[in-house]
Amino acid sequence: MKAIVLEGINLPLTIKYVNKPKLKANEALVAIKAAALNRRDYWIQKGQYAGLKFPIILGSDGAGVVAEVGSESENEWIGKEVLINPSLMWGESEAAQSTAFHILGLPQDGTLAEYVRVPLDALHIMPSHLTFEEAAAIPLGGLTAWRALFSRAQLKAGERVLVAGVGGGVASFALQWALFAGAEVYVTSGKREKIRKALEMGAKAGVLYTDKNWMEKIQPEGGFDVIIDSAIGDGFANYIELAKPGGRIVFFGATASGNLPELNARKIFWKQLSILGSTMGSPSDFSNMLSFVNEHRVKPVIDSIFPLAHAEEAVRKMDRSEQFGKLVLRVD
Ligand SMILES: NC(=O)c1ccc[n+]([C@@H]2O[C@H](COP(=O)([O-])OP(=O)(O)OC[C@H]3O[C@@H](n4cnc5c(N)ncnc54)[C@H](OP(=O)(O)O)[C@@H]3O)[C@@H](O)[C@H]2O)c1
Repeated sequence: MKAIVLEGINLPLTIKYVNKPKLKANEALVAIKAAALNRRDYWIQKGQYAGLKFPIILGSDGAGVVAEVGSESENEWIGKEVLINPSLMWGESEAAQSTAFHILGLPQDGTLAEYVRVPLDALHIMPSHLTFEEAAAIPLGGLTAWRALFSRAQLKAGERVLVAGVGGGVASFALQWALFAGAEVYVTSGKREKIRKALEMGAKAGVLYTDKNWMEKIQPEGGFDVIIDSAIGDGFANYIELAKPGGRIVFFGATASGNLPELNARKIFWKQLSILGSTMGSPSDFSNMLSFVNEHRVKPVIDSIFPLAHAEEAVRKMDRSEQFGKLVLRVD
């Protein structure tokens, strides 16, 4: 089968021909129709991800048709159109993942291929209002944004949310989920064009985080109930000022820096703030997210769709942070 195989750090993503995966019981082989990139794929290519192993077929997001199953009793899955939950072996606790937890696409071969082997419990029937490209855009980013907003920050309708770096894949889902949940959403971005797009989608206001005085320009009266960040840029310390008393600041990535800046500790305890880490999501987070997508007939924000063979071009676009929403790869 054709697959994007990464053979070492900083090597380009190129098509190779490899053997189709062999199945065990409780597994399925999905013929991938579309896959999508995440910042994770970029970090792995750069060698900046834990547990690197080469060669590896990248890709955590995918949608397609079930082609084979590991045992006959599971035959009802064959021919079903599915999307894949890449959050594998989460475990029993809603509070945090188990030690066996891993993400599809490292160490287990991922979705940037004609076929991927996944556990049966990672399969979900594709929402009928979505194309394969739209369905493939959702899993990792949608799940991460879902858990950060709802399971961790406990966002309620009518609350005010700030989504930082709205052009990012996860951030574009945070914007959508929060809007559909009835929140008032403000955004930051490094590019005016992306703020304009967020406003078109329903955001109330936006500022450039590259502007030295960005905080003064986005201070709605009373502040924010929830702030979502995945960059930990220079502006992170401002969130302590911008949050309402009792506010929740959630982060799940560090695109712009390695660590948290110095924070005003007294303000954190005086304002009763919660600073929450979040990672991916549990099986019930994934199911709840899909129910929400079905109920509101949400379509993800897709920046562009590339043929699988152009995966390197797509990851370079991500490197330049040019995208608004998801970079999708069509597999045909
Ligand atoms: N813990 C987890 O489970 C988990 C899951 C998914 C992702 N992540 C991490 O979360 C981060 C985002 O992932 P992604 O897939 O959404 O990546 P992405 O699509 O590449 O988005 C990255 C975005 O970060 C924004 N950004 C860059 N510098 C910023 C700054 N100084 N302040 C605010 N925003 C800034 C940019 O937004 P603009 O384009 O609007 O400027 C950029 O588009 C990555 O670090 C990723 O590894 C973690």
